[in-house]
Amino acid sequence: MHNLAIQKLALFITTLHSVLGADAPSKFPIPWDEAVVKAKTFVAQLNTSEKVGLVTGSYGSSRTLPCVGSIAAIERVGFNGLCLSDGPAGLGRSDGVSVFASGITVAATWDRRLMYERGRAIGEEFRAKGAHIHLGPSCGPMGRHGRGGRNWESFGPDPYLAGIAMNETIFGVQSVGVQATAKHYLGNEQETQRVATTAPDGSVIDAISANIDDRTLHELYIWPFADAIHAGTASVMCAYNRINGNYSCADSDTLTTILKDELAFPGYVMSDWDATKSTVGTANAGLDMEMPGNQTISGTYYFGDSLIGAVEAGTVTLDRLDDMATRVMTPYFRLGQDDGFPTPDPSSGGVFLTYIYGHESPLAGIYPAVPALDVRGDHAQGIRELGAAGTVLLKNLNGILPLRNKTSFGLFGNDLPDPALGSAYLVYGDDATGNEMGTLNIGGGSGTVRHTSLVSPLEAIRKKVQSLDGRMQWLFDNNEIADGRFRSIYPVPEVCLLFLKAFATEGIDRPDLDFQWNATRAVESTARLCPDTVVITHGPGVVLMPWANNENVTAILAAHYPGEETGNSITDVLWGSVEPSGRLPYSIPRTAADYGPPIVELPSNVTDSNAWQSNFVEGQLIDYRHFDANNDITPLYEFGFGLSYTTFKMGHNLTVEVVKSPLDPKADKRHGIAPGGLVDLWSITTTATIDVTNTGSRSGFAVPQLYVSLPQETTPRGTPLKVLRGFEKVHLAAGETQTITFSLKRRDLSYWDVNEKSWIIPDGTIGFAAGFSSKDLRAKAEVAVLL
Ligand code: NOJ
Repeated sequence: MHNLAIQKLALFITTLHSVLGADAPSKFPIPWDEAVVKAKTFVAQLNTSEKVGLVTGSYGSSRTLPCVGSIAAIERVGFNGLCLSDGPAGLGRSDGVSVFASGITVAATWDRRLMYERGRAIGEEFRAKGAHIHLGPSCGPMGRHGRGGRNWESFGPDPYLAGIAMNETIFGVQSVGVQATAKHYLGNEQETQRVATTAPDGSVIDAISANIDDRTLHELYIWPFADAIHAGTASVMCAYNRINGNYSCADSDTLTTILKDELAFPGYVMSDWDATKSTVGTANAGLDMEMPGNQTISGTYYFGDSLIGAVEAGTVTLDRLDDMATRVMTPYFRLGQDDGFPTPDPSSGGVFLTYIYGHESPLAGIYPAVPALDVRGDHAQGIRELGAAGTVLLKNLNGILPLRNKTSFGLFGNDLPDPALGSAYLVYGDDATGNEMGTLNIGGGSGTVRHTSLVSPLEAIRKKVQSLDGRMQWLFDNNEIADGRFRSIYPVPEVCLLFLKAFATEGIDRPDLDFQWNATRAVESTARLCPDTVVITHGPGVVLMPWANNENVTAILAAHYPGEETGNSITDVLWGSVEPSGRLPYSIPRTAADYGPPIVELPSNVTDSNAWQSNFVEGQLIDYRHFDANNDITPLYEFGFGLSYTTFKMGHNLTVEVVKSPLDPKADKRHGIAPGGLVDLWSITTTATIDVTNTGSRSGFAVPQLYVSLPQETTPRGTPLKVLRGFEKVHLAAGETQTITFSLKRRDLSYWDVNEKSWIIPDGTIGFAAGFSSKDLRAKAEVAVLL
């Protein structure tokens, strides 16, 4: 590891310790079964209405907490209630908090350590603010559609990479005694018609139904949720949409049969906000907690009194209610939340209401207008590091980057300065283009986080250029740039840094895959002016870059949504104090049509309540699996791709060893079942080893990847040609070689047999390929794993 990275790591760890302080819970989590016993004992002392209070948002006698959802206190038994807060990239609707990098940026780091440390830092802020439950991380949507409005919140369309990011994040968040919520279960791939609507004649038009076959569910969409459960997630949030015809929060197949029985999930299923559709049906299907309960704006909720009525009528058994309440309380005890937890910061409620209703509104007075508790500690340092690590260098001609010996810079694009609308600028379903003037470092909706601090690219680059005694000219108006009106620019800068952005938000899907605000024309005209145009993009994932091959665009950096240190992160990469080490966690297609299945969009006058159907006919073949299956369509930049300021070579010998031969094709049930499913599925069966060498003159990070090809002949149709089943991020000094070992679990070599209802290692020869991207494979091996 080079010095700067070591210093940063040391600083980050020191920071964590200082923020954790003496308060840090050290003896948690306790084992699940001990927590269950404690929860059962606790629930046994409650009456029916108190039990119902544990499973219904804000239902009970005591105060409502300043949180996006809450479970009321039961003072009689010393229970102070639960505070639930968004979201996956930090504590939303609050002040005094950090804006962390979004999920897609985290995935682009391919770095387990950073994934964990970000989770831990987020957990620390939630804890310090008194939020017991973190409404994240998200692995649904996965990103079946490039235009999906919420893809940026999740970790991308590959289940293996997303699963590891879920695992690390959950361990991080829960390591400080905060509950994690894996969301949105299941098939929430489009925002369009994610909830039911009302037709002009008053009839209900149901939400979109994601129709997904059993194998695809297991091998793709449920896969990262299984990792979340294996990691011990406290909660799983069911989604707004329907899955195979049933509302997600009322689907017993996926909630009870798969989540609770097959995957042995011991925590609770929480509904998305207003996603509960009935009392008896949902409770019996497996929903354990309705949110936000009687805090709902619509006034309609289904647990509370109705659930008491159902229990009295026997349509929901008392056993089931006990199970629901026990599940809600189990993670609370497992994570030691009974052992002292900070009270919620009252400022959070006021911050949010002020944003929605303004300072004049009487509602703004509901919560005391007190200054917020500042819980950021030194997290900015880790955010800066992760923002740089999640930046992907896509093109670098003539070694233009890192910038050297240049002193005259042009700074172009509306993504450079502070947002004109201030520090909290993105709300649900706003115009999908977002706001015109200002940098974009996080998306919109419930996953957005208000800035207490923001270092814009303009601010950080200005400082850097000043330190070089350099000259900076600027033009932020994209229309002027697109029209080539560079009248204020003289002389032509040595390098033009053009910053583009693409906005995405919960509630609506993106209108297209393009960068916004005349971006394409802005690139073309900047490139005409400036023979060294470096394009830096801030976007939610899949985007189009029709200008990528323009010869005057000498470098491209995809910086995703990096969080509050965005300016510092990109400056570190541009001038090379940090190596670009991100790799694409999705593919960049040449055209929108190349990427895969379109979002279902129906005219607003449909009258058939069941009209919204999305058939996932492509099965598992999304993103790189789709490109692999369609040889004639090549992506512009493929999954796993990213350049470095140095170069790497991979050895030709990929050595594969079966750890315990012969293997039984089926997992051995005698080893038991634990959160995540059969224990055997998680055992290491195979290792693969390869050498990687840094062949350049600078140190840098290589990301060797391992892809597995199950035999087409002995598996049912629809098996992807290859799937990611291993990766490492390794720092190599110039000239250094390291041997990388990938460890594969039984699950990694199995397919889901829909008839047997079990994971099977197929007969025949399994292919292994190691490389630096999904298209850049350098070494191959074939092994009959069952031997
Ligand atoms: C709806 C969103 O889908 C979910 O992700 C979020 O946690 C809740 N609202 C609460 O804001």
